[in-house]
Amino acid sequence: MLGAGLFGFMINPPIALYYMQGLNTTPVHGHAALFGVYGLLGIGLMLFSLRAIRPDIEWNEKSLKFSFWSINIGLFTMVTFSLLPVGLMQTWASVKYGYWYARSSEFLQTPLMDALRWTRAFGDSIFAVGAIVLVGFVLSLSIKFFRNPTHK
Ligand code: HEM
Repeated sequence: MLGAGLFGFMINPPIALYYMQGLNTTPVHGHAALFGVYGLLGIGLMLFSLRAIRPDIEWNEKSLKFSFWSINIGLFTMVTFSLLPVGLMQTWASVKYGYWYARSSEFLQTPLMDALRWTRAFGDSIFAVGAIVLVGFVLSLSIKFFRNPTHK
C-alpha cells in the first residue's frame, strides 16, 4: 500500500517525473514496492508451502516473528530516515535550482547528505538480521525434516 500505492503515485504524475525522475525518491518507491509487495509475498508463499509439506513439524514461531518485525522495521527505517529525506531534499533542489543541481556532487556530497546516506546502515542492518534469522528458521526446519523424514 505504501510502497506501490503511495510512493508509486508520488513519483508517477508527469510534473513529478519532470523534476524527480531518477532521484532518491525512485529507490524509495522501488525498495518499498518491490520488497513490500513481492518480497513479503514470496516469503509468505514459501512459509505456506513449508507448512503444507510437513504439517507435523513444530515451528519456532518466536524466531519467525522476530524475523517478520525486523525485516519490516528495517525496510521502514531505511526508507523513512535515509532514502526519503535525501529524495525530498533533491526534489526541492531540482525545483528550485534545476535537475542538474539535485544530482550534482556539490549538493550530494554535503555533510548532511553524507550523514543521511550513512543513516541507511541502521535500517539495512536491522533488515539483514531479520533475513539471517529467517534463513536460520528454514535451516532448522530442514534439520527437523531430515531427522524425521517419514510422515503419515
Ligand atoms: C507492486 C507494484 C510495483 C512494483 C514492484 C514497482 C517497482 C518499481 C521499481 C523497482 C522501480 C525502479 C526501476 C528503476 O530504477 O529502474 C519502479 C519505478 C517506477 N515506478 Fe513502480 N512499482 C510498482 C507499482 C507502481 C505504481 C502503482 C506506480 C504509479 C502509480 C509506479 C510508478 C513508477 C514510476 C513512475 C517509476 C519510475 C521512476 C523514475 O524513473 O524515477 N510503480 N517501480
